[in-house]
Amino acid sequence: MKKVVIPVAGLGTRFLPATKAIPKEMITLVDQPLIQYVVCEAISAGFTDIILVTHASKGAIENHFDHNFELMTTLENKGKHNLIAIVDNILPSDANIISIRQPGPLGLGHAVLCAAPIIGDDDFAVILPDVILNGDSTDLAQMVQAYQTSRKSQIMVEPVAYEEVHKYGVVDCQGAHLQPGESADMVAMVEKPKNDEAPSNLAVTGRYILDNRVIGLLHTTPKGAGGEIQLTDAIAMLMEERGAQAYLSTSKSYDCGDKLGYLKATVEFALKHPELGKSFKTWLETEFA
Ligand code: G1P
Repeated sequence: MKKVVIPVAGLGTRFLPATKAIPKEMITLVDQPLIQYVVCEAISAGFTDIILVTHASKGAIENHFDHNFELMTTLENKGKHNLIAIVDNILPSDANIISIRQPGPLGLGHAVLCAAPIIGDDDFAVILPDVILNGDSTDLAQMVQAYQTSRKSQIMVEPVAYEEVHKYGVVDCQGAHLQPGESADMVAMVEKPKNDEAPSNLAVTGRYILDNRVIGLLHTTPKGAGGEIQLTDAIAMLMEERGAQAYLSTSKSYDCGDKLGYLKATVEFALKHPELGKSFKTWLETEFA
């Protein structure tokens, strides 16, 4: 499996005013934009074709992964070889960034449909770039493995507080006691249920490995929660046709589309940073003792 769809057309209203003139995916977590973390996660899991479903205001994302001739020439002339390595080695040479536009905010399902001409007949992954996983996460690769063994689509979930379930897609695995890294058959999947109507507290956290048939189903998916075409609703139909599984994440996830989630991620990623972590920890301990 080579193709991963990353929807980036959203306008980031939860993060205004920061996102007034820059894409939310370009907000920096310590020293890299958020999009770089998810693209690197996909590459580590073996994906090579990164399909961005994008918007006119998001050109900075494509520029970030492109060769910057002027910057490279300047760095070369100044002999700044360490910076050249940082700027030029973001992607391996066999990786492709491919972009296609989403003409309007019609939902995640619609965003995936926009990528259909590039996905073709292949099975594929979807990564939601608001959700950042800890840097050494191997969940995506494990989900591909689980898909190859079971031939059932894999949807990453994690438990959330019951008061929070209305913000997520929520799955029903008939009370299966999943251990992290395990998958179980789903019997229902609902998008943004009311807190007291949710089938469980297992929330979908932005990583999907999908059977290509979901594309055909998306074509017939009616508008759902929020009046949008929901990927969750198409996966629920796919589940009826040929089964689908929830995969319990082994990673720590951060909702970086949300200001508090982003702040938590910033502190944790800064503490783990190979060059900055130690001094940052010392400073935190001294300043907030
Ligand atoms: C989307 C999905 C939802 C999922 C969530 C995870 O919702 O539709 O199923 O649980 O991402 O962040 P959004 O946050 O775009 O409303």
